[in-house]
Formats: sequence, structure tokens, C-alpha cells
Amino acid sequence: MSTNTPGKAPTTVDGHKDLILEHEYDGIREYDNPIPSWFHLIFIATILISIPYYIYYETNSEVLTAEERVAREEVMQLRKQVAALGELSTDEPTLLKLMAEPKWLKVGASIYATNCASCHGPAGQGTIGPNMTDDHYKNLKTLAEIPKVVIEGANQGAMPAWRTRLSTNNIVLVSAYVASLRGQNLPSARPAEGEVIPPWPAPAAPAPTPAPKPAAGNASTGHVRPAGA
Ligand code: HEC
Repeated sequence: MSTNTPGKAPTTVDGHKDLILEHEYDGIREYDNPIPSWFHLIFIATILISIPYYIYYETNSEVLTAEERVAREEVMQLRKQVAALGELSTDEPTLLKLMAEPKWLKVGASIYATNCASCHGPAGQGTIGPNMTDDHYKNLKTLAEIPKVVIEGANQGAMPAWRTRLSTNNIVLVSAYVASLRGQNLPSARPAEGEVIPPWPAPAAPAPTPAPKPAAGNASTGHVRPAGA
């Protein structure tokens, strides 16, 4: 605050002399007022807060981005629907059915990300375990053998047995997901393992739609019975 007597340099309440600075824009001149201390404090506080903020959000893999939170929420909703599927069978028709439905593959992908990606790579390209995106397989020849390998493990536990760690439904869902990765042939740090096996059977046909009801009326004459007759 300043008292402004014409002809005298204005003086602030605390005795500080307001100096008018040299420059002038469109007739507007400005005082050499220091930035208020509350403004400085906020400025310094934002810098201080940014340091732990950066460390927390940029280096902590547990912290989810907004997109990841949405994706997780979606999978949680889908997992509730899994319960409605009842006990899944580990057979080929079940796997094909799950592979044809993007929503079940999403659930499978989330099980994969948590349990399998560390060894088979985030995209299934293989790291410690074999590449899941090529046509070479070491422990199986048919689609239905995937859940078998997952349940029992392979190579003396190099591929762990998941029987006691995942529910049967989760094993079937993750197996369908793993099977769906085939054919992308992602470049892998590992050489192809095993032999080329026959392609998976054709995908499951979508659930048949009920046949259209025959038109009301006499088909032979083409007469339509009047309503209520
Ligand atoms: C500790 C590392 C590890 C984890 C975790 C792991 N695997 Fe494996 N997996 C392997 C290894 C190693 C092999 C190859 C075993 C061998 O040499 O025969 C393998 C093999 C497989 C195979 C057979 C591939 C083939 O070519 O025969 C399938 C299918 C498979 N894993 C699926 C999964 C799924 C699904 C999960 C998650 C539920 C999973 N794995 C988790 C290490 C792992």
C-alpha cells in the first residue's frame, strides 16, 4: 500500500520508498515493488512439492495412470462376469469360445500380466520362458494341452505348476489368452524352441441366433389371418 502525494515519491506504510521504474508502456509506469512474500512461498512450495511428486509418480511402478485405473476397473467388472460362467472346462471347445470373445481375452491378459509376463515377456515374446507368439512349441501339440502344461508345469519346474496358485477358471482364461498370442511372430531374444505344430482349430462360431419365427398366417394361400381370428 502506498500514499501518493503529487510531487513526492510515494512511500509505503512500512517506510519503503516506491521507486518508479524507467520504462513506460502506453503511458503506464510501474513501481519497483518487490514480489510479496506469500507469492514467493507458494512458488518455493510448488518446487519442493514437485520433488517427492516426481519420485513417487515416475519411479513407482505400483502407481497407476488414469488409463491403467480404468483398464483395471474394467477387468474387475469382467471378473465378476467370470463367476457367472460357472466352472470352465479345460477342453478345446471352451478355449476356442473364450478366444473368440475379446472380453475374456482381456481377463486372460490381466492374469497373464500378473503371473506369466515376468518369464514369457510382457507381449509373450519370451524371455526366461519360450516365445508364445510363434508356431514352435516344446511341450504341446494341441490347444487343449496348454491348460495341461499350465496346471502341471514343465521341465522340472522351470515352467512352474499353477495348479495350486490359480483357480481352474483363471488357468483356462490365461491359456486362451496365451493361445491367442500365437501367429504374431514377435522378435524374441530366445531362439525358437520345440517344433512347429499344426494351427489351432478354426475359431468358435458365434452363438447361433434363433431361427426367425414363421410368418403368421396360411403359408399355402398367402392369406394372413386377421388379428384376433
Ligand atoms: C518362472 C518363469 C515362468 C513363469 C512365471 C511362467 N512360465 Fe511358462 N514356461 C517357462 C519355461 C522356462 C518354459 C519352458 C519349459 C521347457 O523348457 O520345457 C515355459 C513353458 C510354458 C508353456 C509351454 C510352451 C512350449 O513351447 O511348450 C506354456 C503354454 C506356458 N509356459 C504358459 C505359461 C503361463 C500361462 C504362465 C502364467 C500363468 C506361465 N507360463 C508362467 C517359464 C515360466
